[in-house]
Amino acid sequence: MKSELHQRAFLSVRKLLQEKGYTDFDLEYDEFGKPHLNDGNHISISHSHEFSTLIISNQKVGIDIELQREKIIKIANKFVDYEFEFLNKQNQENYIKKLTVIWGIKESIFKICNEIGISFKNHIQAKAFEMKDKSGRASLHFQNKTELFSFHFEEIENFILVYVFEKQ
Ligand SMILES: CC(C)(COP(=O)(O)OP(=O)(O)OC[C@H]1O[C@@H](n2cnc3c(N)ncnc32)[C@H](O)[C@@H]1OP(=O)(O)O)[C@@H](O)C(=O)NCCC(=O)NCCS
Repeated sequence: MKSELHQRAFLSVRKLLQEKGYTDFDLEYDEFGKPHLNDGNHISISHSHEFSTLIISNQKVGIDIELQREKIIKIANKFVDYEFEFLNKQNQENYIKKLTVIWGIKESIFKICNEIGISFKNHIQAKAFEMKDKSGRASLHFQNKTELFSFHFEEIENFILVYVFEKQ
């Protein structure tokens, strides 16, 4: 493995799995790099700097952890469209937090669906939310299908953790 950080990320996932009663042998990856558990439960994994997180559920689930960075403002146009209707650029601190949540929602939905051609900007919409809500709704509109999701988020230090479930 390339870096010490990468090695730590790998080991931390194995440690987290162990805490939930799984071993490395229970985890498999498909050809897209998506992780699967061999007992039928769903799993999703994310890393950011020194943090690793994973979620295990009997429902389809995606997770993402991201450091809050000012730089996200510069790339907002690449992954935000519909959400600009409710985002307020004047309050920069809140704007960065909400953009980071939106990015996490879209990454999480991508991790659930994992289909080539999904565009964060054009195909995934997060409905209006406030930071205090810690949850909300989102949807994927792709290839004449609409799928609904619920998202949940929290701030951990200066990171944002987001996880998303497919709505039944
Ligand atoms: C696959 C992808 C979602 C991984 O996200 P990331 O931010 O690079 O990294 P994260 O730390 O959040 O996630 C890494 C984990 O994702 C999981 N993962 C990798 N490929 C995956 C896939 N195709 N589906 C679901 N999960 C995947 C792995 O479990 C990995 O952790 P592990 O190697 O320790 O097991 C990302 O690389 C990707 O392809 N995103 C879509 C790109 C895109 O459309 N961008 C548009 C920007 S406008």
